[in-house]
Amino acid sequence: MPLAEQPLFAVTNRVPASAVEMLREVGEVRIDEREESIPRPDLLELVAGADAVLTLLHDRVDDELLEAAGPQLRCVANVAVGYDNVDLAAAARHGVVVTNTPGVLDDATADLTLALLLAATRRVAEGDRLIRSGREWTWGMGFMLGSSLRGKLLGIVGLGGIGARVAARARAFGMEIAYHSRHPAPAEVTEALEAERMPLERLLVEADVVSLHCPLTPETHHLVGAAELAAMKPSAVLINAARGPVVDERALAEALAAGTIAAAGLDVYEHEPRVEPGLLALDNVVLAPHLGSATVETRTAMAELAARNAIAAVRGEEPPTPVR
Ligand code: GLV
Repeated sequence: MPLAEQPLFAVTNRVPASAVEMLREVGEVRIDEREESIPRPDLLELVAGADAVLTLLHDRVDDELLEAAGPQLRCVANVAVGYDNVDLAAAARHGVVVTNTPGVLDDATADLTLALLLAATRRVAEGDRLIRSGREWTWGMGFMLGSSLRGKLLGIVGLGGIGARVAARARAFGMEIAYHSRHPAPAEVTEALEAERMPLERLLVEADVVSLHCPLTPETHHLVGAAELAAMKPSAVLINAARGPVVDERALAEALAAGTIAAAGLDVYEHEPRVEPGLLALDNVVLAPHLGSATVETRTAMAELAARNAIAAVRGEEPPTPVR
């Protein structure tokens, strides 16, 4: 297919205006401005004839969508670092390059992870609920005690950009770092963090906090289930700011209710936006509605990077951050 002189960019949801302006300087932009996610039939209509599509993490990109777009489609620019919503094999079959937004959301996601960790260990959300309930309370030596972070072992699963930034923040709180990942992290990263690589089985047993930062793949689906939760310390805390299905959410609700582990902090859900009902009644879990990258600065940077990817692809150039 020759390069389009006036490329068409389809954008599946509202994104920061600066990114739309970047696209408008290069071609035509068709955008679904709804705040909620676009229904599938509208999505398939929106992408028809597009040279590049900017997708969000709940837009399923598969053969059906790629065919609905048409043979001129060059790029799916996912406005997210995770791309488990994209069928990479289908994209390759259609000759479509897939891009994501690594790096620009590492700090924001690490900040949110620490917010969950502190909220879970210091019972912040539970305390907020107590005060709002109007129930009487008074300061006491044994009142609402949590656990300290200094000297505790943080086990990071997936020491990529986000995991490393979580670890750096945790070091500032006096935590020790262990990690599990398929490949060893670069020496300059692990040396600065004094991070020890260990098998998942050992990390689960030894860590005081387990924080998940791996991508969702067939291998990481339900990476933490009933057996893994049972292996953790009864005082341990689980944080998931990666993808919901990495954790068996029903098993987690059961483990939290039974005291198998002490607490959890979740930003993502197995059947998002639905949350396992068993979790909702529990005080020892902090629930955030997928806010990892939700700052004005970060969302702008993500959308602009996705726009740069899409623009490069329609020009026949190598996009800055292709998924390999
Ligand atoms: C957010 O969850 C992302 O993958 O960017």
